[in-house]
Amino acid sequence: MSNNLLKGKRGIIFGALNDQSIAWKVAELAHLHGAEFVLTNAPIAMRMGEINHLAEKTGSKVIPADATSVADLEKLIAESMEILGGKIDFILHSIGMSINVRKGNHYTNENYDYTMKGLDVSALSFHKVMQTAMKLDAMNEWGSIVALTYIAAQRIFPDYNDMADNKSYLESIARSFGYHYGQAKKVRVNTISQSPTMTTAGSGVKGFDGFINFSEQMSPLGNATAEDCANYCVAMFSDLTRFVTMQNLFHDGGYSSTGVTQAVMEKFQS
Ligand SMILES: NC(=O)c1ccc[n+]([C@@H]2O[C@H](COP(=O)([O-])OP(=O)(O)OC[C@H]3O[C@@H](n4cnc5c(N)ncnc54)[C@H](O)[C@@H]3O)[C@@H](O)[C@H]2O)c1
Repeated sequence: MSNNLLKGKRGIIFGALNDQSIAWKVAELAHLHGAEFVLTNAPIAMRMGEINHLAEKTGSKVIPADATSVADLEKLIAESMEILGGKIDFILHSIGMSINVRKGNHYTNENYDYTMKGLDVSALSFHKVMQTAMKLDAMNEWGSIVALTYIAAQRIFPDYNDMADNKSYLESIARSFGYHYGQAKKVRVNTISQSPTMTTAGSGVKGFDGFINFSEQMSPLGNATAEDCANYCVAMFSDLTRFVTMQNLFHDGGYSSTGVTQAVMEKFQS
């Protein structure tokens, strides 16, 4: 179903790796809602070539960019404005990676080179994207920038490891940059805190099956799917949410406000 909520809007979507990626679902839905956009991912992530199928399906161009490289971002944003024929209305930052998680390093035994790399990719890149866009005066007034995050920024989930710290920093950047971008250009900046979702990044977390089942039972509405996350992103990119900024928005079926559910209580009653 499309209501053309994004008709006439131009965007840049980071992070569509394969058809499970949240960014992939956002691109499909944004296209249905009439948006035009450029797809981007790290050059190394494009080797599989899957993003080309998405580009074909959505009539989009693909520009490789390592989101930690300011030079890549400058090129990406400048070329996107040329391709799309004007300034940008929305950006999705759907990027996350921890080498400590990948290598199975315990939180109390981090390799700090890995920590710094993960922080750069998962959090600082968000600042780099916005600083570059601001310097190039690339955003239209009332434009909307969204990054995806997870509730481990607020509460401990031990196996989420250093990604929890990365997400805290990411959410803080959204607030801080949101202030400055709001004042300077009326651009809004938010993070969406999504339920656990079966994707490449998600399933890299140890014990992810248990994680998903637990939150499914701890949420009155159940886990939000990637498709539903795409719905929320489109709403956030649309003109229907113009005064929402500097927020961390939970999209989790009620998980973040739930102490316990009947389903979980039953497991502990004798
Ligand atoms: N899957 C979940 O359970 C879940 C829950 C909450 C939030 N999130 C967040 O959603 C976002 C998207 O993740 P996903 O679950 O769709 O997984 P995904 O693996 O499909 O997406 C992660 C993306 O980050 C990209 N990336 C990594 N390094 C990069 C770099 N240097 N430059 C540019 N791109 C780079 C990858 O290529 C990939 O496309 C991430 O921020 C993730 O933390 C995921």
